[in-house]
Amino acid sequence: MSRAKIVKASQESIELAAKYLREGKLVAFPSETVYGLGASANDINAINLLYKAKGRPQTHPLILHIADINDVYKYVIEFSPIAQKLAKSFWPGPMTLILPKSDNVLNDITGNQDSVAIRIPNNPIALELIRQTGNGIVAPSANRFGRISATSAEAVYKELGDNIDLILDNGPSKIGIESTIINLYHKPYFIARPGMLLLSQILSVLSDVEKKEFSDIKNNTSIKVSGNLESHYQPFTPVLIMTEKEIRDFTQSKPDMKFGLISFSRIESNNIVHSIIATKDSNDYAMNLYNRLRTIDESGLNFILIQSLPDSEKWLAIKDRLNKASYKSI
Ligand code: TXA
Ligand code: MG
Repeated sequence: MSRAKIVKASQESIELAAKYLREGKLVAFPSETVYGLGASANDINAINLLYKAKGRPQTHPLILHIADINDVYKYVIEFSPIAQKLAKSFWPGPMTLILPKSDNVLNDITGNQDSVAIRIPNNPIALELIRQTGNGIVAPSANRFGRISATSAEAVYKELGDNIDLILDNGPSKIGIESTIINLYHKPYFIARPGMLLLSQILSVLSDVEKKEFSDIKNNTSIKVSGNLESHYQPFTPVLIMTEKEIRDFTQSKPDMKFGLISFSRIESNNIVHSIIATKDSNDYAMNLYNRLRTIDESGLNFILIQSLPDSEKWLAIKDRLNKASYKSI
């Protein structure tokens, strides 16, 4: 395999990408959340290749991306009224539903579990690619296992350029962190991975009876969601989350070290050499987060410091990612 080609997404390049996928090759493509590393969902060899390219254990299941709600019926044995309601309300969009799988889903996709994760992404390039490929596209985030997801074609290239054939470039991902995963496979239902689609938004479209089926506690650890590992989404540089005062104290106590910082206002210290000021808009923060972490990571510093985030539901998914990025840093 040669190094991946990055091509601007266009009718022509989508056709080429779909052809590659049908031939069993791997293609990275844009979605509104993060870039995905795609393989044709009915090609076992391509799926094995995908696990290898990403360095991901075969037991961690993949999301099946489809373009049309009606296709769900092919892949599940039950599409419950709640699942249908959520699908109609939030697809295409940053939501993945875990549903009981049918025999049409290869066991290689689900890590031999009898559930399947399905998503209709909200990106015209992704939707057209899925339609042209024909049988659904399985796609994890386009990064090496355990690393930060890629939110640009350049980031995909840095992560996986040696192992894949083609990267469709559609500019930066609009949402910037991975989809909200909802377990609708067994009760009580729950959010298996928080995302920018919030539990309150999900509950707001359900009746009082349906709401009762939901637990807001992450109460099932037997399910294999790699985002559930305590350490995930990690830059190479250790990440620490601190208050403004802790940042001042910590940087001053380590005069020989060099720090990167993402904060909400300027914090002066001689050894903070790469400082990014973020806005307090959670959507903007999420959209820029991985790119900012990558940029600081590449400057080879001792620590990346993150100023603690506001305490509200809107920041939950961002906090989840940063907690995993900072796990066991020191
Ligand atoms: O936004 C996203 O969800 C992106 C874009 C590309 O769609 N995809 C993504 O995929 O984040 P990935 O593979 O990096 O994360 C999907 C998560 C994994 O943690 C996986 O373990 C979990 O979904 N998952 C997939 N199928 C599952 C299943 N049947 N049961 C439980 N968890 C599942
Ligand atoms: Mg991932």
